[in-house]
Amino acid sequence: MSTVGLQKITKAFPDGTVAVDNVSLDVRDGEVMVLLGPSGCGKSTLLRIIAGLEDPTTGQLLLDGEPALDIPPRDRHVAMVFQDYALYPQLTVAGNIAFPLRLAGVSVEEQSERVADVAAALGIGELLNRKPSQLSGGQRQRVAMGRAIVRRPRLFLMDEPLSSLDSGLRAELRAEISSMVRDLGATTVYVTHDQAEALTVADRIAIMRRGVLQDVGTPAEVYGRPATMYVAALLGTPKINLLEAVVHVYDGSRVALRIGEQELNVPWDDLRARALAHYHGERIVVGLRAEALVAGGHELRGRVRYVEHHGHESLAYLDIGAFAVVIDDPTGPVTAPKLDRGFLARFRKRPDVQTVATTPEGRHTRRRAELAVRLGAAPDLQPGAPMGIGVHMDRVHFFDWAGARIDVGWR
Ligand SMILES: Nc1ncnc2c1ncn2[C@@H]1O[C@H](COP(=O)(O)OP(=O)(O)OP(=O)(O)O)[C@@H](O)[C@H]1O
Ligand SMILES: [Mg+2]
Repeated sequence: MSTVGLQKITKAFPDGTVAVDNVSLDVRDGEVMVLLGPSGCGKSTLLRIIAGLEDPTTGQLLLDGEPALDIPPRDRHVAMVFQDYALYPQLTVAGNIAFPLRLAGVSVEEQSERVADVAAALGIGELLNRKPSQLSGGQRQRVAMGRAIVRRPRLFLMDEPLSSLDSGLRAELRAEISSMVRDLGATTVYVTHDQAEALTVADRIAIMRRGVLQDVGTPAEVYGRPATMYVAALLGTPKINLLEAVVHVYDGSRVALRIGEQELNVPWDDLRARALAHYHGERIVVGLRAEALVAGGHELRGRVRYVEHHGHESLAYLDIGAFAVVIDDPTGPVTAPKLDRGFLARFRKRPDVQTVATTPEGRHTRRRAELAVRLGAAPDLQPGAPMGIGVHMDRVHFFDWAGARIDVGWR
């Protein structure tokens, strides 16, 4: 039983790096909260603050509702599983799992009982006498988990626990971890930079960028109603299309979004039309995921650039004569020097990258949009073929040029 309360937590390192910037977040009892964000966004720092391995510069931490910053790490009843977990090579699996119990002075009988329980729960009961060198990567990761669970912590902190494994094993283990922590009823804070992993493991996801919390919600909430353009760009495959559009209001009867040479109509009875009308004459961003689009409709027109086959389905990428805003490297390290993609594009002789725009969200590349539309398994389509596109307006997202969601009741 455990809850975590982060209240306006800021962490500035002595060299001036602000790793965590005014983050407030509540983790409920028994909940699996995933911290998602690109490398360097402050996920590990936040986890280390909860564990007591790092002190925040300002802000308060509550554990079970009580101020906890003065509680030493070992009294916080927190277990941490790291990406680079290290097992003791000279100890057996049983010895590794029992290690924290031995340190805590638990009797030998109780040690072996608890180790057997945990090992059975993790499906490694047969391996207790092996050494780590005789285990697969996935089995080693389970031993590391076992060593954390055996102490019956109130709170699990997991920092990219699967990132050293290959993708097949990751998918298998993330389902297992997710069901295991639920069986244990343990409150869990789980860090990853992998959006697909976050969507499968989480009860709720907290999305971070450059130390700032961008959005919090269930996977369905943050995917279906992203608070910012950045969150929309981070979640989902294929990536959302973020199109530049200019808003035009026709005498209070409808709002049109000018996307390239085309117009996408937002009827006045769509509640968001009022919010959009405030942007008359201004540039905004229209977010279109593949599931908002149907091949063969009449809202937009495009030409097939290429078709990508995925076996059970295929994706057609269409040129609709529009420009897309691409957030510079939403998943890459924020501290890395930015590449001039315009330069790279000229270098590769790709004339479709036009210019680089700067918005408060950061530096963006603006390039010719390729709208992803889902099709059946083996469509008979040649590049250059014209296609009408239907748009489910209720699945379209609108963002202002600064990247914030425009919605009902906005402004
Ligand atoms: N001791 C430190 N001194 C100065 N800066 C630090 C220190 N530790 C971390 N940072 C910086 O703080 C920022 C956040 O680091 P953090 O380790 O929390 O990121 P992260 O989200 O866990 O990234 P990754 O996914 O790569 O593990 C980074 O810019 C990092 O370089
Ligand atoms: Mg980290």
